[in-house]
Amino acid sequence: MVVPDLRKEFVEDYIWPAVLANATYEDRYLLGTSLARPLIAKAMIEVAVAENAHYVAHGATGKGNDQIRFELGAYALHPSIEVISPWRLPEFYKRFPGRNDLFKYAEEHGISLPVTPKTPWSMDANLMHISYESGVLEDPDHHAPSGLYQMTTDPEKAPDKAEVIVIEFKKGLPVKVTNESESVVKTEALDIFTYLNVVGGKHGVGRVDLVENRFIGMKSRGIYETPGGTILQAAHLDIEIFTMDREMRKIKRMLDFQFGDQVYKGFWFSPECEYTRSCIAKSQEHVEGVVTLKLYKGGVYILGRRSELSLYNEELVSMNVQGDYEPLDAGGFIKINALRLREYARLRQKLGQ
Ligand code: ARG
Ligand code: SIN
Repeated sequence: MVVPDLRKEFVEDYIWPAVLANATYEDRYLLGTSLARPLIAKAMIEVAVAENAHYVAHGATGKGNDQIRFELGAYALHPSIEVISPWRLPEFYKRFPGRNDLFKYAEEHGISLPVTPKTPWSMDANLMHISYESGVLEDPDHHAPSGLYQMTTDPEKAPDKAEVIVIEFKKGLPVKVTNESESVVKTEALDIFTYLNVVGGKHGVGRVDLVENRFIGMKSRGIYETPGGTILQAAHLDIEIFTMDREMRKIKRMLDFQFGDQVYKGFWFSPECEYTRSCIAKSQEHVEGVVTLKLYKGGVYILGRRSELSLYNEELVSMNVQGDYEPLDAGGFIKINALRLREYARLRQKLGQ
């Protein structure tokens, strides 16, 4: 059996690009599973090549996204590979139409399982998140049972004392995390991410309960906990807006959206996603500085930020000094912008609207 440790690669080559993209799918899902699948596919293909194997297999169901991600990844990296997907073989799914049939089989054959018929969650746990689907969660209005979550404390039971952490970014990536109260300093990618998971988990950060649209067509209900990813998203977004030109960021936002969509749908190894990733990385050249945040009962609160590369000009924006700015000019700026609004108003008046 081959069990490679891919944690460092997962953080540096998959989670970090997602941080640069403030990546979400349908505005809330931070893509913890979607990001891991291409790396798993890559490692699977590496082993297949080393073993001179012609087939790879996976255990994803025939109804979900994961089958698509594993297989698109495999074909993109090894065009002649063949995939075995038991859940899609009629002889399998006719014998085992659902998870309960699998439970029965396991019981009859003395196979021990980490899940029970009462807590049958289809879980995907990795360094970035844990996702929960199936069982009572399939009723989208059935509240998540207490005790479901494994990575985060219930925000109501989280410490009464807030924790302040400082994150330093260079080219959009976190390079240092400090927590003075605990004398913590982390500078390696994997250490940074692992630490943020621990401290975020302690304060109940990053729980999301949502219904999403699977690529295959149906809506599904999922519960996610992504503590470190949630902290980094808040901090990165803050330093990005602080340092990036407004118009450039508008374009970048469209790329962020494309990235989230491409990754969710399993197109990590594709010309479009490679292109999107390189454009997003290029946008981060000046995204540099330090963000201070507070974690408290499930919330991430930004306290302040500073940067040597910021476009923020305190004198220019100040309500106390004039700076390099002529208030008289603003009148003309507004008048010119109003030009087409006035023409439109005249038209509507003429039409009696
Ligand atoms: N719905 C999420 C996604 O498509 C999570 C899938 C979780 N996978 C699993 N095998 N339980 O990314
Ligand atoms: C599965 O179907 O195997 C898990 C859920 C998904 O892939 O969307």
